[in-house]
Amino acid sequence: MSVLPEQSESTALRFPTGFVWGAATASFQVEGSTAADGRVESIWDEFCRRPGAVHNGDTGEPGADHYRRYAEDVAMMRSLGLGAYRFSVAWPRLADLGFYDRLVDELLANGISPWATLYHWDLPQALEEKGGWTNRDTAYRFAEYAAAVAGKLGDRVAGWLTLNEPWCSAFAGYASGRHAPGVTSGDAAIAAVHHLLLGHGLAMREIRAVAPEIPAGITLNLFPVHPASDAPADIDAARRVDGLQNRIFTEPVLRGVYPDDLLVDLAPYGLPSLIQDGDLDVISAPIDLLGVNYYRAYLVAAGGEPDGPSEWVGAEDVRFLTSGHPRTEMDWEVQPEGLTELLVSLNEQSPGLPMYITENGAAYPDTLTPDGAVRDADRIAFLDGHLRAAHAAIEQGVDLRGYFCWSLMDNLEWAAGYAKRFGLVHVDFETQKRTLKDSARWYAGVIERNGLPAEG
Ligand code: FCB
Repeated sequence: MSVLPEQSESTALRFPTGFVWGAATASFQVEGSTAADGRVESIWDEFCRRPGAVHNGDTGEPGADHYRRYAEDVAMMRSLGLGAYRFSVAWPRLADLGFYDRLVDELLANGISPWATLYHWDLPQALEEKGGWTNRDTAYRFAEYAAAVAGKLGDRVAGWLTLNEPWCSAFAGYASGRHAPGVTSGDAAIAAVHHLLLGHGLAMREIRAVAPEIPAGITLNLFPVHPASDAPADIDAARRVDGLQNRIFTEPVLRGVYPDDLLVDLAPYGLPSLIQDGDLDVISAPIDLLGVNYYRAYLVAAGGEPDGPSEWVGAEDVRFLTSGHPRTEMDWEVQPEGLTELLVSLNEQSPGLPMYITENGAAYPDTLTPDGAVRDADRIAFLDGHLRAAHAAIEQGVDLRGYFCWSLMDNLEWAAGYAKRFGLVHVDFETQKRTLKDSARWYAGVIERNGLPAEG
């Protein structure tokens, strides 16, 4: 079945041969079947029950019912020509990983490379009850889990990602509490950062032991950060936000150090005392690739007042300004040029580092037309702009090897519930009917020509 637009325009920008074209999802957001086959509770099941925590009281049920409909979904991926599918493994399913076994086989049978993320935020609730990521022991439990998953899938996946966006796990989970487990403590968030990073390093060892030849790395959500003015206070605000968002993860992983300024800023929250001998060697074990999730950039100034528990531990006074770009339905500014800037800057910091964009995409208020279409020209423009920006980075020497659109299909957008739709594919959550949006057809065309159509 061809889903391509009837008339293929000429190709303007071509990507390197072998560039990986994929789409991504995450276990809790799409699977549903939260009580099937011995799955235990995760922090998100618990958080969803908390009154007011998740929009509309939405939960992991029904998700996109991917647990049961995976074969249909893989067929859909094939119809789009996807070369790779990035999914995450649910730690709460450790007792029975059969679903991932079947999913991986189905992907391979359809010529699609499986890319597995080990942790996309669904910590078993039982571990949270022992302190979750604030407890150093969780890093060791994560390594055991990683070994089990690698043992099960190790020879069949095309790429491994240990953690997805540890910034969100640590700061949204334990500082502002807007994500599970909903804790509001700066100390807890900083402990979580260190233990997540330690867990990453320990998991890399386990993956290497089972599948040394399969490329592995970590996915970080990274943002270019700019000060609103040349005023020293604004420049310092940008330094602190860049530190908490980006450098607190990139420097330990890529260079085996925490930046000096963060060790000072975060001493009141206990960062230096968390670091044990050898930790940074474990954390900085070589990675084969860096996964970059990019959604937007930050413009910051000093002198604000937090209006609740802040994610910006030790930088609660920072203000986030708008720079006048159009916005998505998440209220996020559309800033494709920030993607070029980010990738080029990472390549300057770690020359030659292979990178993949493991997430990029946008929520828009999609509606199904009476004839069953979704005319999401805004999403096409978003993706087109970001792919041009990615291409510009490649032209500037970045070893960018692939792009995974977030998301394959509409799903539970965490605390925003099912109301925010990021999919290339529309999901009717009542019937679970899938409908290709115009953007899915457009993306299929990009994949087929390994490039973008001529502009305008
Ligand atoms: C990222 C998450 C992903 C999705 C997108 C919109 O932070 O990794 O699960 O929610 O944002």
